[in-house]
Amino acid sequence: MIRIGNLTKQFGSNPVLRGIDLQVGAGEFVVILGQSGAGKSTLLRCINRLAQADSGTLEVAGIDALGCSDPRLLRQQVAMIFQHHNVVPRLSVLKNVLTGRLGAVSTLASVLQLFRRDDIELGMQCLARVELDHKAHQRTDSLSGGQMQRVGIARALAQRPKVILADEPVASLDPKTARLVLQYLRDASRELGITVLCNLHQVDYAREFGDRIVGLAHGSLVYDGSAEGLSEADLQRIYPGQQATCTAPLPAMSYCAELRG
Ligand SMILES: Nc1ncnc2c1ncn2[C@@H]1O[C@H](COP(=O)(O)OP(=O)(O)OP(=O)(O)O)[C@@H](O)[C@H]1O
Ligand SMILES: [Mg+2]
Repeated sequence: MIRIGNLTKQFGSNPVLRGIDLQVGAGEFVVILGQSGAGKSTLLRCINRLAQADSGTLEVAGIDALGCSDPRLLRQQVAMIFQHHNVVPRLSVLKNVLTGRLGAVSTLASVLQLFRRDDIELGMQCLARVELDHKAHQRTDSLSGGQMQRVGIARALAQRPKVILADEPVASLDPKTARLVLQYLRDASRELGITVLCNLHQVDYAREFGDRIVGLAHGSLVYDGSAEGLSEADLQRIYPGQQATCTAPLPAMSYCAELRG
């Protein structure tokens, strides 16, 4: 589903991705770990062409993602979930989910926000997957942060993507809610055969939810293997000079990264 070959990306003189090789199959749930600045977000952004890689090969859902002249074709297949869920607060929960369909409906329909009955049914099914169908007609700003993130997942699913890229989807959630959100995402991935690449800062969530873990350090891939196979020595390579075995200190790093902007 995703084939990445010798992918490189530099910002000015700062090499951020240094020859990444990675292949991910259909329906795999891959967690990407790495300390702040390791290149996790840049990798996801290169995959859906929010950032342009400098060299290498990148095939996503059968599309040559580096060479394709219209990134919208790519983005129809690839949904994103962000840390801050990016929902529109004043819209209803269902309308937020249906914005996931905008890439698939005509320009006029999208301007007028006209959705077909089958899109609405799909939106309701996606909300049912995250157990929020009963909130469909409420304003989204009446929901909690965890519920908003579930709306973000439903919106991504409504896009009927082959791939979901989730960039720290649970960084601002308490542990119980974070687990619930990751569970919805993993279940949807398994049941619908969607490939998920999910950036996380929490090693224990990675172990619990990842079919596979990829570790980045300073833009290089330093681990690619099973969750069970991830050893302390691997963690030392992924987090050089840090203790990285429990949930608590690592989310704090991501909050710091956020504060630094
Ligand atoms: N648009 C940009 N312009 C210049 N440098 C950038 C840009 N985006 C990212 N970088 C740099 O690329 C490096 C990797 O950043 P990236 O956001 O991919 O890291 P990350 O692993 O996602 O970190 P975090 O865990 O803090 O989110 C950092 O040194 C960052 O400063
Ligand atoms: Mg990031």
